[in-house]
Amino acid sequence: MNCYKHLIRPLLFKMEADKAHDLTVKAISNLIKLPWAADITGALYRSDHSQLHQKIWGLNFDNPVGLAAGFDKNGTLLPFMEKIGFGFIEVGSITADANSGNPLPRSFRLPDDKSLINRLGLNNDGAKTIIKRLKKSPISIPMGVNIAKTHDPNIMGQKALDDYKFSYDLALKVADYITLNVSCPNTTEGKTFEDVEALNQLLGHLEIGKDASSPPVLIKLSVDLTPVHLHEILDVCESFAVNGYVATNTSSKRIGLKTAPDTVERIGAGGLSGAAIKDQSTKIIEQIYQHTKGEKTIIGVGGIFTAEDALDKIRAGADLLQIYTGMIYEGPGIVKSINEGIAEYVRENGFDHIYQLRKKFKEKVPG
Ligand SMILES: Cc1cc2nc3c(=O)[nH]c(=O)nc-3n(C[C@H](O)[C@H](O)[C@H](O)COP(=O)(O)O)c2cc1C
Repeated sequence: MNCYKHLIRPLLFKMEADKAHDLTVKAISNLIKLPWAADITGALYRSDHSQLHQKIWGLNFDNPVGLAAGFDKNGTLLPFMEKIGFGFIEVGSITADANSGNPLPRSFRLPDDKSLINRLGLNNDGAKTIIKRLKKSPISIPMGVNIAKTHDPNIMGQKALDDYKFSYDLALKVADYITLNVSCPNTTEGKTFEDVEALNQLLGHLEIGKDASSPPVLIKLSVDLTPVHLHEILDVCESFAVNGYVATNTSSKRIGLKTAPDTVERIGAGGLSGAAIKDQSTKIIEQIYQHTKGEKTIIGVGGIFTAEDALDKIRAGADLLQIYTGMIYEGPGIVKSINEGIAEYVRENGFDHIYQLRKKFKEKVPG
C-alpha cells in the first residue's frame, strides 16, 4: 500500500496548502533527528542503479532526479532528501535579505490538473543564515544553491546587482553548482533579470565565466518565454559561457486547465506548476538543446510525475531532472519509482547506461 497516497496525503490535502507545507517541513526536520527514522527512511525509499550514475562537471550523480528549488528554501531538510533517494538537491531560492514573502494564503492545489499555483514571494531566512546552516549540514550528494534578488521593489538598478552579488559570493563557499533564478513570477517588481540588457549586466557584475575554478553556474528560465525572447536570453548567457540551464520555472499563464475558470480566477496571481506546464517546459528544453547544440547541461523540470514524463524531458535534451509538484501529489516514493522506471527503460532498450540512452534520443532531435 502507498502509505503517502492513502494515509498522509488525504490528511495534508484537508489543510490549506501553506499550512500543509509548513507542517511537512516541521515534521521532516524533527523526524530526521532520530537516527532510526533516518535509517528506516533510507531503507524504504533509496534505490541504486548503476545504469543511472553520471559524472557531470566533475560531480558524481547517483541518479538524475533532483529536488527542485522552493521545497527546501532554507536548507533545513537536506539529510532527509538524501535519504529518500534524490540524486541531488537545489536549496533556495535564497536572497541577500531575509524575507517573509507574500501574505497568506499563497499556495493552492488544483487536483483536477495535478498542479499548484503559488505566490510565495521568495520567503527565506536570508543568504547569511542559510549558507552558515549549509556549512554544517554535510550530505554526500551534489547540492546546488539557487539565488534570487531580494523581494523588495526598492532594490533595483545597481542595488539589485549588488544584492545578487552578496548572495552569489556567499554561495560560492558551499555550492556544488549555483543557479541564478531570473524567472520568479512572484515579485512585485517582476522578473527583473529576464530583460536581456539587465541579464547582461548581472552576468557581467558577477563575473560569470571568468574564474574556471568557480562552481558551475546555471540560469533558470521561465516556461512562458517566446522563442525569440528565449534565443536572445540564450545568446547573452552563452556569451558568458554559463555551464547550463534549469528549464523551467512556473507559468504566469493559465492555459488548458480542467479546473473551473471561476476557481482559477478566485486563486488569483501566482506561478502555475505541475502537469499543466509539462509539455511547454519540455518544448523550452528542446529549444535550449537545439540553440546550444547540445553542448550545455540542462536540468529539466516541470510536471514530472512518472518515468515516462522524465524520459520525455531526457528525449528533449535534459541531462538531469528535478521535481516539486509531483512530490506533493505522489509523495516521497516518486523518486524511487521514476529512477526504477528510467533504469528499466535503459535495460529494456539493450543499453548499459543512461548516457547511451541520451545519445540515442539526442540523435533524434531535429537540429
Ligand atoms: C510552492 C513552490 C515554490 C517554489 N519556489 C521556488 C523558488 O524559490 N525558486 C525557484 O527557482 N523555483 C521555485 N519554484 C519552482 C520549482 O522549482 C519548479 O521550477 C516548478 O515548480 C516546476 O516544477 P514542478 O512542476 O515539478 O513543480 C517553486 C515551485 C513551487 C510549487
